[in-house]
Amino acid sequence: MQQKLMDAGRFFTPSAPIDERSLFAGRIEQLVQAVDAVNQKGQHAMIFGDRGVGKTSLANVLSSFVPNSNILPIRVNCDTGDSFDSLWRKVFSEVQTNDHTVVGGFLENTLPKREDADEEFVTPEIIRRQMLRWGTRFTPRIVVDEFDRLDDRYRPIFADTIKTLSDHAVNGTVVLIGVADSVDQLIAQHESVQRALVQVKMPRMSPSEVKEIIKKGLDGLEMAIEPLALERIAVLAQGLPHYAHLLGLHASRTALLSNSLIVTVESLEDAVRRAIEGAQQSIRSAVHKATVSPRKDNLFADVLLSCALAKNDDMGTFAAQDVRGPMQKITGRPYDIPSFAQHLNEFSEPKRGNILKKAGASRRFRYSFSNPLMQPYVVMKGFAENKIPTSFFDQHGE
Ligand SMILES: Nc1ncnc2c1ncn2[C@@H]1O[C@H](COP(=O)(O)OP(=O)(O)O)[C@@H](O)[C@H]1O
Ligand SMILES: [Mg+2]
Repeated sequence: MQQKLMDAGRFFTPSAPIDERSLFAGRIEQLVQAVDAVNQKGQHAMIFGDRGVGKTSLANVLSSFVPNSNILPIRVNCDTGDSFDSLWRKVFSEVQTNDHTVVGGFLENTLPKREDADEEFVTPEIIRRQMLRWGTRFTPRIVVDEFDRLDDRYRPIFADTIKTLSDHAVNGTVVLIGVADSVDQLIAQHESVQRALVQVKMPRMSPSEVKEIIKKGLDGLEMAIEPLALERIAVLAQGLPHYAHLLGLHASRTALLSNSLIVTVESLEDAVRRAIEGAQQSIRSAVHKATVSPRKDNLFADVLLSCALAKNDDMGTFAAQDVRGPMQKITGRPYDIPSFAQHLNEFSEPKRGNILKKAGASRRFRYSFSNPLMQPYVVMKGFAENKIPTSFFDQHGE
């Protein structure tokens, strides 16, 4: 038992991306797209989606799906202060500091020194030549994560780089990863770039993918779970793998602490309470700010919970009418849109901390949680406060 208590933290990792194929769940469609991009000369990839949906994890396990022992893996993160030049210097120095020193030495030989000059020195052409050099012995795989942090003004030159690499069918792949609803938020979309850049959209996970995470972790721990508890996790996690891991971790440990190898509905309830207590202070206070009111009979908490439970599309957006169903189930009363339209409005305003984001045209607004991680928190809080009727889980598990 003791050993398993420790091991639970290896199989359930709410705060770290997956870097082991055996723990990677689902995402078959996205893997196929990304693997195709890697295998095709002249193709590169952009993995995009919400924060916390598993973009970095996908890039991490990608190599293990492409049989090629010659891969030269390079991974860098964009920082807000990065320029095109500084970013590529990071890429180049990454190679010098890892095991492949044999292909290093690039900075000294080829790249003009930057001192006394404001100009950018790394150009798409320099990158192409360096890729060619590496490419004689290795297949470079350059992953640029947090691409959304790169200043807008460097995006056109990035597009040019992709185009240059593609036009010359350079051996190697560039994989860009960024938080966005669509690729054009991240890179200029002229047609030539579109052809060269495979778009891998990472939506929320399906309930069965969430369940796979739980099953993989519990298999590793040689534990099992009651089917009902598994269904509930699938609803509570709201397609966000972070919460699947968090609930898996707490629930397995709760079970182990009571000397059981089976996660039950009771151990899950306990896990939810712990997950809520452990939530970031920023999330807790944001939800408080959004729902606080001097009037006791106010609807803010119920409407927010209904928003969190509203049927949403794969990018997490919903319309006012999607809120009506959950609202009626939670309160047991036939609320209609006008009775909570004002609440939706206020949730999208600064005075309630902009907990929701509103997009689209009047009367056809679509809402989403500004911070996607807040949505499962609100759901779990409602669950812990017994506000969600059990019928809800039965209908939404699959
Ligand atoms: N396919 C997957 N299988 C299992 N766990 C995953 C998967 N994708 C993501 N996770 C988990 O979800 C959390 C967020 O993943 P991460 O890759 O960091 O997301 P992103 O890069 O999109 O912010 C991490 O705890 C990670 O372990
Ligand atoms: Mg990431």
